[in-house]
Amino acid sequence: MTDTRTSSVTAVVILAAGAGTRMKSATAKVLHTLAGRSMLHYAVDAANAVQPEHLVVVVGHQREQVIAHLAEIAPHAVTAVQEEQNGTGHAVQVGVAALPSATGTIVVISGDVPLLTGETLTTLVEKHAAEGNAMTLLTSQPTDPTGYGRIVRDGDQCARIVEQRDASPAELLIGEINAGTYVFDGATLGAGLGELRTDNAQREVYLTDMVAWTRARGGRVVPWLLGDAWQAEGVNDRVQLAAVGRELNTRLVEKWQRAGVTVVDPHTTWIHHDVDLAQDVTILPNTHLEGATSVESGAVIGPDTTLSDVEVGAGATVSRTQASLSVIGPKASVGPFAYLRPGTVLGENGKIGTFVETKNAKIAAEAKVPHLTYCGDAVIGEGVNIGAGTIFANYDGEHKHTSTVGNWSFVGSNTVLVAPVHIGDGVYVAAGSTVTSDVGPGELAVARGLQRNIPGWVARKKAGSKTAAAAEAAQAAMQQEGAE
Ligand code: UD1
Ligand code: MG
Repeated sequence: MTDTRTSSVTAVVILAAGAGTRMKSATAKVLHTLAGRSMLHYAVDAANAVQPEHLVVVVGHQREQVIAHLAEIAPHAVTAVQEEQNGTGHAVQVGVAALPSATGTIVVISGDVPLLTGETLTTLVEKHAAEGNAMTLLTSQPTDPTGYGRIVRDGDQCARIVEQRDASPAELLIGEINAGTYVFDGATLGAGLGELRTDNAQREVYLTDMVAWTRARGGRVVPWLLGDAWQAEGVNDRVQLAAVGRELNTRLVEKWQRAGVTVVDPHTTWIHHDVDLAQDVTILPNTHLEGATSVESGAVIGPDTTLSDVEVGAGATVSRTQASLSVIGPKASVGPFAYLRPGTVLGENGKIGTFVETKNAKIAAEAKVPHLTYCGDAVIGEGVNIGAGTIFANYDGEHKHTSTVGNWSFVGSNTVLVAPVHIGDGVYVAAGSTVTSDVGPGELAVARGLQRNIPGWVARKKAGSKTAAAAEAAQAAMQQEGAE
């Protein structure tokens, strides 16, 4: 196989073994999510962009969770277990040991730097190859460099990196920091790792000591200062998680605005990474589009709406709605105040209106469920009208059953359809019915007590009341009219 890439990468090693103590969480730090994806998933994406022969993830703390997650998002990744977290240099040693050999180009990134892009990593690799460097690293100048390793420059090269805790007062004034993203000559890395010492404040093997080690042996170490400091932002606690999450959201919203989506209020609009939006979609304030939600052209979503894994057709409107794992057809209308649970499928021009809850409900084209209805385990035909207050009673206390309503049937208000019950095509169901047996095509179903009016009841039972007086006055007036 010929390799057409300009610079090929032997391996990307992702560091993800750290304890993440400052997160204070039962969930591994790299599994915390931003825009619907784990931090580790973003690192894997960036790694994949440089098409490495091997992808190694160094795991340690809470590794069962991390390994299970990797099986889903990156089955091609190899995991290397770092039993004790003795520092980033030790972690890379463990990662490199999982490779057939430490040769060629080896990239190291952190699992907790989610805004690093594949493009940036690709450019870093290309720069490394073009300049014949032994080590090339990403740097940035954040507003606050506290906590990061500082870059001690030596012209256009890096002399060494000094960690916050080991830095002198003068070194702490350096604004350029180490982003934790590196490209190494594999042979140099392999040779140097074994020689790094732990004579530092944290008694750990620092990967950053590779800089001075490489320089001492005549290798070129070049920092690439990135203007976009967010791509170097590491997440160590939940305050940083929210800040980086907010920035990622801003970037995603902007991407869609530039692709032709109207976002009325970017600050209250949250769009997950995997969402897909067509041109001329409009998103109103306080809307959350999550998971694999997709929206076709001309649809208007919001305000105050959350859609998770929902497909919305062209020209549909969805207002003040909570929906998941559902399909909303073209030109359909949903809400305000609707709750669509998994398995809801609404056809073209259909309607799910106000205070309606649906679950596993197939509602065909032109069908309408406009008000105050529970519609669970239902198959509703074309053009059906479901009256206000109708309940699909799908649960008998032990099992769920499905009911069906045929095409162009009309179900009167306040009907209970006790499942399983099948209503044919072209049927009328009288308002207030409790339907327990099937209804054939063209029939009228009436399932309620017939009305009886009992004259004089109020005068006998409620004598002396205001109600009785009102009745008496009305009767007198009627008699008067009759006499005239
Ligand atoms: C590290 C760098 C620092 C840089 C910063 C950028 C070192 C010594 N310091 O500091 O120069 O500015 O990243 O974010 O490298 N990890 C392991 N095993 C370990 C230790 C860490 O896998 O034994 C992993 C962590 O899970 C994390 C990454 O390595 O994904 C970085 O470790 P962290 O402890 O966050 O290093 P910083 O103190 O942030
Ligand atoms: Mg960190």
